[in-house]
Amino acid sequence: MILHSLGHSEVLIEVSDSTGLPYRLLSDSWLSRYSVGDYMERNPVVEIDWESFPRIDAVFVSHSHADHLDPYFLTDLSERYGFELLLPETLAYLVPVFEAYLKNARIRILKNLESYSPRPGITVSGLIFQNDGVGNEEDVMTLKVEDGTDCAYLEIDTLPPEIPEEREKLSAFLSDKPYGTICYVATRNELEGNLKIHDIGVPNERKKFEKEYVRERGEWMEWQYAMFDEYETEFEDFTKIRGFCRLFAGQWLRYPKALDADIAAVNVLPLPEILTIERELAKKYGRDFPQDFLEAGVSYLVKNGKAERVGTVPGIKAEAVFSKAALESRKDVSLVPPVKRAFAPVRDEERDVAKQDKLVLGLLNGRFLATKLADPDDNLKNLVLQSSDGAYRVLVRFGTSKSFVCKTYAWDFSKTGFVREGLQEGKIRFDEDYWANDLEDFFEGTQELYSNFLHKLDSDKGYRLWTVLWNNFLNHDLVQKKYAFHFEWRSRGGKPDDFVLVGYKK
Ligand SMILES: [Fe+2]
Repeated sequence: MILHSLGHSEVLIEVSDSTGLPYRLLSDSWLSRYSVGDYMERNPVVEIDWESFPRIDAVFVSHSHADHLDPYFLTDLSERYGFELLLPETLAYLVPVFEAYLKNARIRILKNLESYSPRPGITVSGLIFQNDGVGNEEDVMTLKVEDGTDCAYLEIDTLPPEIPEEREKLSAFLSDKPYGTICYVATRNELEGNLKIHDIGVPNERKKFEKEYVRERGEWMEWQYAMFDEYETEFEDFTKIRGFCRLFAGQWLRYPKALDADIAAVNVLPLPEILTIERELAKKYGRDFPQDFLEAGVSYLVKNGKAERVGTVPGIKAEAVFSKAALESRKDVSLVPPVKRAFAPVRDEERDVAKQDKLVLGLLNGRFLATKLADPDDNLKNLVLQSSDGAYRVLVRFGTSKSFVCKTYAWDFSKTGFVREGLQEGKIRFDEDYWANDLEDFFEGTQELYSNFLHKLDSDKGYRLWTVLWNNFLNHDLVQKKYAFHFEWRSRGGKPDDFVLVGYKK
């Protein structure tokens, strides 16, 4: 079995079936330069030479985030040749969109804990963790691909919950057969740290933050080993299964290089440094399984309980982002904070205020109110009780940065739902604030909530409405609209480049 790393979380798994023919499954599909969700650039960018790139038999999409589900790449592929599009059952609601735009894709839904054999001797199985919380990665399916001897297990943007039953399920999933190798691909995402660094800018302050961030992440990494000892017999330690080895995939999104190369180079905790920490921890906790990180453009041979670098991926050109020089150069650069729209909607244009007002009330009463009243961690009733004026209030700015009006929407115990107050900004306390154009664009599928680089968010505020709206399960209709928009945009010749870079124009 060979894993070809394409950077971010894209891995092409190559196995031989029992007749000796190759079968290649691409796990996750974001290979375009920009992510239309985050308005960020891929790190590293990879270019495919279709003439020499291995033929893909199947594409698996782990979940619905735009840095994994790429309508532009999927359309490119579908225009070249037929392939199987393998979807977790949690993405079944997107089938009509795929059917409408991917004429050459044969769609297959994979159910939780279902196994199927695409070719003789090859088995593909899915496992969805059952978390208690409400997050934005709840639709993730983890995937196992095996060839009868070795297996690759991909855990993308999720973590096995710290619940004995779920840990047991994972251990059973990884040890249903005596594999020669269990190659566990785990994703690491340092986006939060990188975003913070952008805001800091000054080298000294940044270094202070970096140190603290790396310390905290190190503690978290240590807990991933220590929890097995802490919970003792309650927790099965899947890292002790014979043949276990691990590869780290990095979720690297960056500020567009075309706009500022220095800021794009920032990387608070690059994969080689994660690997060093992990190797030390493994030693400390007596786990001597082999570990490495996935480097874009490198192929790994999975065999005999390890994954070894064996060459370069044919047919791709990948930027080298982990060279010594590249890693060191980021340290002392003085950064000018990137363009953020401190006080403007992404699309700074006049819109229909009456229509937007109706939309805001619909979002607050149709999606927000019940969800937050039922939220055990951050409960709306409690927020009202804790507020100085006994209300929860959302302020919305209608219009453009040059000319706008504010309206506030409040809910308190005397009301049956949020109502518009029409009070002026500066005269009233509010809990969160938005531009109506951004909310409308999100509702129409033409902007994502993950557009972090475009919004200057006030760290004292909660942005709870956004947090409710970015939960995929609560907003299937919006996710569907978003992908329909991008497939349609692509069908008319649009590229993610145009969509993303225009967002940064003032
Ligand atoms: Fe994700």
